Amino acid sequence: MSDIDPEKLPKHIAIIMDGNGRWAKGHALKRALGHRKGVESVRTVVEICRKTGIDVLTLYAFSMENWFRPHEEVSALMKLLAEFLDGEVQEMMDQDIKLMATGKIDSLEPAVLRKLKGAMEKTSGNRGMVLNLALSYGGREEIAMAARKILSDGLSGKIKADDVDEALFQSYLYTSGLPDPDLLIRTGGEHRISNFLLFQSAYTELYFTSTLWPDFREEDLLEAIAHYQKRERRFGRISEQL
Ligand code: IPE
Ligand code: IPE
Ligand code: MG
Repeated sequence: MSDIDPEKLPKHIAIIMDGNGRWAKGHALKRALGHRKGVESVRTVVEICRKTGIDVLTLYAFSMENWFRPHEEVSALMKLLAEFLDGEVQEMMDQDIKLMATGKIDSLEPAVLRKLKGAMEKTSGNRGMVLNLALSYGGREEIAMAARKILSDGLSGKIKADDVDEALFQSYLYTSGLPDPDLLIRTGGEHRISNFLLFQSAYTELYFTSTLWPDFREEDLLEAIAHYQKRERRFGRISEQL
C-alpha cells in the first residue's frame, strides 16, 4: 500500500481477467476449475479496489466471442456467474458496492439474467464503488448497437445529424455515465485488447502481466497501480504543458 499515492489513483480500473484455462492446465485440472479459482481473485480485487478508493472497477468476465467456446465451458461459466451473484449480493450491500453490467446481457440465459437484474436493482442505491461486469460484451457490437440506436433516434426526430458528436455517441454506449478507464490491466501474458472497451480506452494506460488470473493477488494489483502512477498522461500535449 505504501507505494500508492492516494492523490493519483485511477478513477476507473478495467481488467481483462485472462489465464484461467492455462492455470487449470498447469494444475492438471479441468478448465472450469480454473474459472472457479478465478472467482477468488475477483473477490480479492473487488475488496482491494473498494478499500483503496477506486470509483469504478470493470471486469471482463465473458466476451461475445466466448459464446463460441465448447458448450460445456459456456455452461460452467454461466453457472459460476449465477453462483457469484447469489453469493456476493450481500457482500456488495455490506461494502456499499453498486453492481452494473456492460454488454448484450439479453443473450444470457433467462435465469442468470433474472439474478443479474435482481442484484443490480438491489445494489442500485450503493455509492461506495461501481462494480461493472462486462458480460456478453464485444466492443464492436457495442459500437454497432450505439450506431443503430442513434440512427433510430434520428429517424424518429429525437436527434439531428449535427447532434452526433463524441459526447452523444458515448451516451449511447453500455458504459454511459461511467468515466473512461484510466488503467487497463490484462493478466495471462497476451498483449491484446480482445474486443474490450474499444471506444472507451482511447487514452487508457495499458498494463500487461504474465500472472495468470487465478494467481492475481493484492500485491499484483498494487504493483499495477504503482506503475500507472509513474506514467505521464499527456493526451497529445507535451510534458511542459501538463
Ligand atoms: C479467461 O480465462 C476467462 C474467460 C475468458 C471467461 P481463459 O479461459 O481465457 O484462460 P486461458 O486464456 O485459456 O488460459
Ligand atoms: C478475453 O479473454 C475475454 C475475457 C477475459 C472475458 P480471451 O481468452 O477470450 O481472449 P483471446 O481469445 O485470447 O483473445
Ligand atoms: Mg484466454
